Amino acid sequence: MSDFDLIVIGAGPGGYVCAIRAAQLGLRVACVEGRATLGGTCLNIGCIPSKALLHASHQLHEAAHNFAKMGLIGAAPSVDWAQMLAYKDEVIAQNTRGIEFLFRKNKVAWIKGWGSIPAPGQVKVGEAVHAARAIVIATGSEPSPLKGVAIDEETVVTSTGALALRRIPASLAVIGGGVIGLELGSVYARLGSKVTVIEYLDRLIPGQDGEVARTFQRILARQGLDFVLGAAVSGVETGAAGATVHYALRKDGSARALQAETVLVATGRRPFTAGLGLEALGVAMTPRGQIAVDGRYATNVAGLYAIGDAIDGPMLAHKAEDEGFAVAEILAGRAGHVNYGVIPGVIYTAPEVASVGETEEALTAAGRAYKAGKFSFMGNGRAKAMFAGDGFVKILADAATDRILGAHIIGPGAGDLIHEVCVAMEFGAAAEDLARTCHAHPTVSEAVREAALACGDGAIHA
Ligand code: NAI
Repeated sequence: MSDFDLIVIGAGPGGYVCAIRAAQLGLRVACVEGRATLGGTCLNIGCIPSKALLHASHQLHEAAHNFAKMGLIGAAPSVDWAQMLAYKDEVIAQNTRGIEFLFRKNKVAWIKGWGSIPAPGQVKVGEAVHAARAIVIATGSEPSPLKGVAIDEETVVTSTGALALRRIPASLAVIGGGVIGLELGSVYARLGSKVTVIEYLDRLIPGQDGEVARTFQRILARQGLDFVLGAAVSGVETGAAGATVHYALRKDGSARALQAETVLVATGRRPFTAGLGLEALGVAMTPRGQIAVDGRYATNVAGLYAIGDAIDGPMLAHKAEDEGFAVAEILAGRAGHVNYGVIPGVIYTAPEVASVGETEEALTAAGRAYKAGKFSFMGNGRAKAMFAGDGFVKILADAATDRILGAHIIGPGAGDLIHEVCVAMEFGAAAEDLARTCHAHPTVSEAVREAALACGDGAIHA
């Protein structure tokens, strides 16, 4: 008999959710994790710590820019960086301890150490070899290296180093205008750094709605971030005074340089599968270096499964979680299901940016007839009271059937608002269904209803 029904390798959001759900469904489960705490990149050096710094720096921004307008008079707070980092670390600790508690509660054994797979059905950790009926690889991702750029996590950092800088830099060059670059760029811009984002493409947040991206850039520029778009970085030199980023403008090939105290490299992530022994096992990979799986997350090796950032799809904690749920259910003899058409994406800046489903660009490229209902937060009383009238909600619906195909929101609470559209889409709702749903007044969610109304006879407050 095997030691376990299931061994999950990796205790990030994909792995720990998979382990807990499988245990709840009656399997004997272990989870292998080599980090000193559970929770993976997300809880330790990703989503959670960045949200702590985003929250703290947003409060500072509010105090400096909006308090006096509301009659709240007093000196704007100054930053105790050591305390801000201590607050962030405490938030991490509360969350990672929470997962430990959940493992104990659900009888998931934590095997401490880095696992490898010497043979099908076996996981080696240190000198011990554990047997399992099924193995799920949930080892996540790591920052992609950039040619000509050496990371030292002090002067030239990835998101990991950016969450623990020794001091707030006077200037920060961010390579990559994607999610990490803009979230962490926002943090340091609010804390007083001169932030310049250098992006290869001619736009920010590629793949997302173009109108949202343009609005987003305008708002961030007003918050003090500078942008160099269409720029190919060729290298970074470091010296006593910081770093020099060398890049060429793609439109004319002209060489440029930017000095900064600190450089953040945020040009994407790649699957983290080194050391697992996949090559020796003969595990099939995709051309992009991801583990190849079928619709049930099974690899080509019997009993070996993979989920999350290690396989294809958006590198998002909640996508990994959903796959963790699904594979646990499949292993327990149930159906398991992930609706890849309804996976929201959120950028936790202020304002937040959120999206789900199709973009106008993708629908146009596919030749699909659609209608777009748009509503500005300027027409929302609650948003105006919060100085948050910038941005809009856009709902895309099928031109013939009115079925909701996607939504794109930039504005207050976008990351929460998107979920009513997700639920609507999950139920196959029409825009009219959202429009006919009573929304409490005054809430920012009324902007979603108004955008749905704009897909039909028109919004009221536009
Ligand atoms: P990303 O894919 O979001 O953005 C990378 C950006 O770098 C792109 O705009 C790309 O065009 C640009 N780029 C690539 N090579 C470049 C070069 N040589 N010079 C200049 N620009 C270049 O990747 P990012 O921001 O590193 O995030 C990694 C992953 O983590 C993403 O999949 C992201 O979705 C996920 N993540 C999600 C968060 C969230 O959901 N809130 C937060 C942080 C990360």
